[in-house]
Amino acid sequence: MNIVWITSEAYPYAKTGGLADVASALPKAQSKKGHKVSVIMPYFPQVMKELTQKTEVVQGPLSVPFGFTEEKAALRKHEINDNLTFYFIEYNVFYDRPSLYDYNGVAFGDNAARFIFFSRAAMQTILALDINPDIIHTNDWMSALCNVYLKTPLYWNYKNFQGCRSVLTIHNIGYQGIFDKSNLFLTGLGWEYFNQSCLEYHDQLNFLKAGILTADMVNTVSPTYATEILSPEYGFTLDPPLHHVEYRQKLRGILNGIDTDDWNPQKDKLIPANFSPEDKSGKKKCKEALQREFSLQTKPDIPLIGLVSRLATQKGIDVLTSALERIFFEEQNIQVAILGTGDPELEGRLSYLNGQFPDNFSVFLGYNNKLAHLIEAGSDFFIMPSRYEPCGLNQMYSMRYGTIPIVRATGGLDDTVINYNPDKIDESTGFKFYELNVDAVVNTIRWAVYTYHNEKEDFKQMIHNGMTADFSWEKTASEYEQMYKDAFN
Ligand code: ADP
Ligand code: GLC
Repeated sequence: MNIVWITSEAYPYAKTGGLADVASALPKAQSKKGHKVSVIMPYFPQVMKELTQKTEVVQGPLSVPFGFTEEKAALRKHEINDNLTFYFIEYNVFYDRPSLYDYNGVAFGDNAARFIFFSRAAMQTILALDINPDIIHTNDWMSALCNVYLKTPLYWNYKNFQGCRSVLTIHNIGYQGIFDKSNLFLTGLGWEYFNQSCLEYHDQLNFLKAGILTADMVNTVSPTYATEILSPEYGFTLDPPLHHVEYRQKLRGILNGIDTDDWNPQKDKLIPANFSPEDKSGKKKCKEALQREFSLQTKPDIPLIGLVSRLATQKGIDVLTSALERIFFEEQNIQVAILGTGDPELEGRLSYLNGQFPDNFSVFLGYNNKLAHLIEAGSDFFIMPSRYEPCGLNQMYSMRYGTIPIVRATGGLDDTVINYNPDKIDESTGFKFYELNVDAVVNTIRWAVYTYHNEKEDFKQMIHNGMTADFSWEKTASEYEQMYKDAFN
């Protein structure tokens, strides 16, 4: 198939979260299976840094109708192999910024314009390069307008789109791209699209909703999340349109995989020592390095819990902070190392905890890929107390690195972690709790730490189970193939 991915981020060029990992690993897996894949994303020179040098300018300006004018952008590309090319929309007014979506946690005021422009420019790129896609694959609200565009006279008449269907992947329904309706004129669409079946949402624009209702297929990134978002609790008010899509059998839940080249403890160059399921001795060195890096005492036998996360309400960091405070008041024999950035209030709470319990707790506020790998490799446990988690990648990275996940049983966390059960020890991979409250987090951490100290054989077996589990993209890529085929029915 000829597949065009449209995404606002992709690793290693620009990344704020798991979307970037998926938008890099899945196209790669698809290209390996023989599909022709193009990935279109914005060109973020300040974020991409030296990676900008890998890109080359594609001849000729790219015309992008935008509001009442026609803007000129540039197009760059980075060819990975014959079947996989990344294309970048260069338009510095919108994308030459220090970060992708916000400045110090506050969304850029012109995000509506920035991503309307991006969506339109992506459609223009397909025309300019004369690509004939079978599938346009969009991701989250930032590119969901493309699903709409494909169904409008602005694009459907072009021969390039004659045999084309569109698929929208929802990585996170908590972010929908809701903007004032005055932005409609920038899209080039008329008021006839400002209705309940398309862009209108409480008298505002909602890009994700419009994408959901116009895509030929919609999926989320785990089977459990696909069910959860049909409820008011998890649907963030989009459960009614999702029910409509589900009723028409257009909704899927496909579990993400992980890039087993980037996240491989046997070959990882970002960690101080490599290790494997057969020889785990390198993991001890990683733990020591992690303790040193985070200014924690370098003791080998103290259980160390790690976390790498966007600091957002979604991730349950508020509850975790309270739970850790309670644990540290009573217990000195646990260490916790956190790497994250995001909500200034959560950053403040974590820094405060760091000040209160410097011997047990250490936080690094910022984005740092090398430290993320070190935490995965050096920790004994990895905690994810998410309020909701469409898939979550870190719990899978953890298991691969012999680090036991402690997770709230929601979304992809529930689908990927198998709760500890001494009677089913050959399957067990982690510790789960169900309600999100301080008691549940405290008790589950205690249960995990008790097991670490007192059930050593079970603990070893769980590490082994996680390290040898298959989280590769191969299976996932086939499920996406099937969904693409179903988009034609
Ligand atoms: P989400 O996409 O909701 O943020 P995921 O678990 O799917 O959650 O993916 C998060 C990805 O972002 C992981 O690859 C994780 O290692 C990475 N990440 C998150 N925060 C940081 C950070 N502060 N520094 C480095 N990597 C981070
Ligand atoms: C989102 C979700 C996360 C998921 C990622 C990749 O950011 O929050 O759970 O793993 O997208 O699909």
